[in-house]
Amino acid sequence: MQLWHLARNPIENWAQVHFEKPILSGSSMFGQLVVVNEPSAIRRVFVDNAANYEKDPLQLRVLRVGAPNSAGQGLLSATGDTWRQTRRALSPLFTPRRVAAFGQIMKMKADERVDAWLRRRPGSIVEIDQEMVRLTYDMLSATLFSDALDGDRADVVRQMSRLLDTIGRIDPLDALNAPEWLPRFNRAAAREPREWFAQATERMIDRRSAELRDAPERAPDDLLTALLRASDPQTGVGLTRAEVAANVFTFIAAGHETTARALAWTLHLLSRAPEWQERARLEAMAAPDDPAEWVAAMPTVRAVFEEAMRLFPPVPHMSRMALEADKLGDVPVPAGATVVIAPWVLHRHRLLWDAPSAFMPERFLPGARESIERFAYLPFGAGPRVCIGATFAIQEAVVALACLLRRVRLTPIRGVEPRPVLRITLRPDDRIPMQIHPV
Ligand code: HEM
Repeated sequence: MQLWHLARNPIENWAQVHFEKPILSGSSMFGQLVVVNEPSAIRRVFVDNAANYEKDPLQLRVLRVGAPNSAGQGLLSATGDTWRQTRRALSPLFTPRRVAAFGQIMKMKADERVDAWLRRRPGSIVEIDQEMVRLTYDMLSATLFSDALDGDRADVVRQMSRLLDTIGRIDPLDALNAPEWLPRFNRAAAREPREWFAQATERMIDRRSAELRDAPERAPDDLLTALLRASDPQTGVGLTRAEVAANVFTFIAAGHETTARALAWTLHLLSRAPEWQERARLEAMAAPDDPAEWVAAMPTVRAVFEEAMRLFPPVPHMSRMALEADKLGDVPVPAGATVVIAPWVLHRHRLLWDAPSAFMPERFLPGARESIERFAYLPFGAGPRVCIGATFAIQEAVVALACLLRRVRLTPIRGVEPRPVLRITLRPDDRIPMQIHPV
């Protein structure tokens, strides 16, 4: 029974005690499980003793089902040397300076979305969750891929959604560590969208490879070019074609779903907190011209977004496997144990937050945010495997929220009460319709 529950919505498995105790250890169907909500112990897992804690096999298996080609791993699911090499090759694309340069394109895409809304009658209803997926996909595609993925956005978004919906349900056979040759329902359902992505990615790589060969000076300086040029300066070895393809897929998946979910939850919360919506709007209206300066210039918009990610962390669970025995606080961690760090629980933990369930963006305003413990708030993870796109995500979110709030007011629809479900990211269980009114 519990296995099928896990396949439906694993977010509901947490009990009250997890929100009250700093560290809990016990045996489960996954073997020894240690659930850690104590900031210094989390620091040990992610940073001080990070070499002892690897991404665990169950998580890797779930992530790898989605990849179009099992021969190559993208940054999210790669380990060892492949991970190091890929991370080193791609990090230069995500420096604050490079990300700031994407500000104008991000603003243009957000303005286009609002233009489309404002062409409708005042008081129209938009499905904010779908709209945010479209917007973050447009931003990602235009910045990191120079719009090189062919097919229309609706296809990409639909296929990605199908894929995450199927692979994001933990397969009970995976949970039980059943032999690989047994058929898994989720893998069969993932086959068609996987195939779709495999073909679209191949075409995109072929076109860009030809461009780099024939007219390299005209090739865009983006993620795809960086992947194709990625050869490790220390070893001289490049990424294989399968690894390039896996990363294209990884960045499309990891790069728009997460921010889209975070933005939808933010707007959901703002639609029910008109005073915060108004404060954020006033700040957005007074923003400087250059969107590259917006994150620094809009502490309230940023605080609203960060508080929404506290309550609805887009990546609500992270896990690692202990390679050797260790101790977290005074709790022993045997070799092979799975350590779970769950922002969903950590961000609502009674020992770490006052009024944990309340939406209070003031926690993240300058003057207050400095007293938040670094390892009590982890929407982007921490340590060597921290989200490579964190700066990108914060900037696109602030730009998106500012562009929207400057021009529309959002009000909730009576009776709509979205419930979070876990499908790798924390999604709403249903659409989030909202009424929009021109400002
Ligand atoms: C609000 C938006 C986002 C959130 C909350 C988020 C969250 C996370 C988290 C928690 C991890 C670490 C997982 C772990 O340690 O097990 C991660 C890793 C990663 N994220 Fe994000 N992410 C977001 C946006 C993005 C964007 C915009 C991109 C790309 C443009 C991206 C690409 C990645 C990649 C490639 C990794 C794997 C990094 C590695 O293992 O070296 N993410 N993300």
